[in-house]
Amino acid sequence: MNGVARAFFLVAIVAGLCGMVWGIQMSASQDHTLSPAHGHLNLLGWVSCSIFAFYYHLVPSAAANPLARLHFGLVVVAVVLLAPGVALAIQGKTELLAKLGSVIMLGSMLLFGWIVLKVPGRVTATA
Ligand code: HEM
Ligand code: HEM
Repeated sequence: MNGVARAFFLVAIVAGLCGMVWGIQMSASQDHTLSPAHGHLNLLGWVSCSIFAFYYHLVPSAAANPLARLHFGLVVVAVVLLAPGVALAIQGKTELLAKLGSVIMLGSMLLFGWIVLKVPGRVTATA
């Protein structure tokens, strides 16, 4: 696994490690207040980034599209904003980071959809 696929997988692992440490800290402290932030760090970081990694690994023509790097950058920015942003929103401090992260994450998914659509379909041999 190379290029953007490997980069997505490395981000997934870092997010998964942070999310699991956060989960263990919540369990140990018996304070689950921030569980939605922990959940979304794991779901958008570990789970979604792993799916993107496998997709780009399996479809090299999509990985070769320059937009794949933009997709990677948007997802990283969104996860970095959204996880602490949800925690800050729950604590009643600010909703700004959560809102920014959500919109960037949505934009990154639209871009991913575009990249998938631009991949040429399989050319089947005809007699
Ligand atoms: C070491 C691993 C993990 C630990 C110790 C852990 C711990 C926890 C704890 C204590 C809660 C709060 C439960 C409650 O209040 O009822 C929670 C919620 C949650 N966790 Fe984890 N977790 C771990 C890994 C994961 C992973 C890998 C995922 C996703 C792939 C995940 C997704 C969620 C979700 C979606 C919630 C509910 C969020 C919500 O309240 O809206 N967790 N976790
Ligand atoms: C832009 C991305 C996303 C935003 C803004 C978002 C927002 C939210 C919000 C506001 C909640 C309610 C939290 C609460 O009640 O305290 C929630 C719950 C949840 N979300 Fe997300 N979400 C996003 C993406 C995802 C994704 C990609 C997944 C799964 C792969 C996911 C899985 C969940 C789950 C499992 C819950 C908990 C439901 C429950 O406890 O009843 N979310 N999300």
